[in-house]
Amino acid sequence: MSDSRGRNETSFKEPGRLLVLFESTIARVLTSHLYRNYVESLNLKGSERVLDFGPGAAGCSLHIARRLQEGSGRLTCVDISERWMNVLMRNLKGFNNVDFKLGQLHSLDIPEESFDMVVTHFVIHDIPDRQRQKVVRCLAEKLKPNGRFFIREPMNPGHGIPAEVVQALMGAAGLKELSLKKDKHPMAGLYMEGVYEKRA
Ligand SMILES: C[S@@+](CC[C@H](N)C(=O)[O-])C[C@H]1O[C@@H](n2cnc3c(N)ncnc32)[C@H](O)[C@@H]1O
Repeated sequence: MSDSRGRNETSFKEPGRLLVLFESTIARVLTSHLYRNYVESLNLKGSERVLDFGPGAAGCSLHIARRLQEGSGRLTCVDISERWMNVLMRNLKGFNNVDFKLGQLHSLDIPEESFDMVVTHFVIHDIPDRQRQKVVRCLAEKLKPNGRFFIREPMNPGHGIPAEVVQALMGAAGLKELSLKKDKHPMAGLYMEGVYEKRA
């Protein structure tokens, strides 16, 4: 069974209200520098078309939307959760350069090869194993040739995804690795950060 946005075809469940409240208030303040520094490291020119996949409370989206306001760039936010989408829209309500899309990526009306950049920040590890490759492939299809896929994922045992699994997903989607680093953050723990490119 699937709703019109394809959400019922997965084991997706809306996050609890308390979790959303905590993550969109206290955790958001404590980690805001992490998001800001990450978006600065993307070196946006301001004119790009960017897809933020699984934006949650707008941790990255807020900084991306701000940067794109300086050019003619545009941000598209795709999230499967109605609860997160409500928080996201509230946090980005002052921006007129953002499009919001709720649902499964492959069910949404988003043309192929329409983005210069895809950003996924702490999302892929939350997607069930058997669905990950389809999602990553679909994200790669949305990228223009030579477009870049920026990914950050936790690698903590019990809650995370090994960097080698991310590398395999990217490779199978036809994306070339440009860089991969691993680091540790007091709140996020161990994480990996990779940049991939779609071949022309
Ligand atoms: C751990 S949160 C990360 C949010 C944000 N990127 C950040 O770093 O703060 C994971 C987000 O991915 C979204 N998500 C999970 N599976 C998804 C899917 N299949 N399609 C779109 N969004 C998804 C969740 O609803 C949630 O907003």
